[in-house]
Amino acid sequence: MTTAILSALPEEQSGLLAHLEQARRGVHAGRVFWQGSLHGHSVVLALSGIGKVAAATTATVLIERFRVARIVFTGVAGGVGDGVGVGDIVVAQDYLQHDMDVSPLFERWRVPGYSGVRLPCDARLSAILSEAVDACLASAGGYFDHEFMSASPRLHRGLVASGDRFITCAQVARDLRDPLRAAGHDVLAVEMEGAAVAQVCLDYALPFAAVRTISDRADDSAHVDFPCFMQKVASRYAERIVRELFRVLQKT
Ligand code: ADE
Repeated sequence: MTTAILSALPEEQSGLLAHLEQARRGVHAGRVFWQGSLHGHSVVLALSGIGKVAAATTATVLIERFRVARIVFTGVAGGVGDGVGVGDIVVAQDYLQHDMDVSPLFERWRVPGYSGVRLPCDARLSAILSEAVDACLASAGGYFDHEFMSASPRLHRGLVASGDRFITCAQVARDLRDPLRAAGHDVLAVEMEGAAVAQVCLDYALPFAAVRTISDRADDSAHVDFPCFMQKVASRYAERIVRELFRVLQKT
């Protein structure tokens, strides 16, 4: 059974690649795919690309060409939920597309053809991923500590919103979050790919889970916080979480 590990950016993938054994490199649809063994598990490592369409193409190649059995996304996100701070970790329970609007024909944010506004992640795989993150936070003894991160990073589980926009303004973040919250969709974090991968995985009935570390608060300092975080933290945390994920998967 092969697991695909998707990362949005090379910085997020580098820690994983460093541990890949029997690595084989292939190029499809202009993307590089790394097959090999990670902590004894068959994997394909890939970059999603930036934005929903790029991510959907990558996910489709992983499924159609590499026949992966599940997709796990590790990446970063901007925190928009109350109490979701830089360095916290979010495991998505479901996704929505905050820039999808076919109203009044369909409910706002709903992708026509799908049963609701929210695109669910796989409950079992997400629970295993949460357990892995919990174990990292509990056992690592400050592994995640860093000048950017709160002293005790927290795990949040819930709704994540994707859209083709990097949010760098507190007012824009509020304008995005508040109407969703009023409609009962309390968004924890924003990023640019997850909902597209969730949608493709629903189409193929393939288990999907996503973990996002909060790199910024999607506000006026996001453009400074994001690159700093990517450089100093992103590759280390992805490697650690994936290693723990495989350890938990082994015992289930
Ligand atoms: N990914 C990380 N930070 C983000 C932000 N502020 N907006 C969109 N995607 C992000």
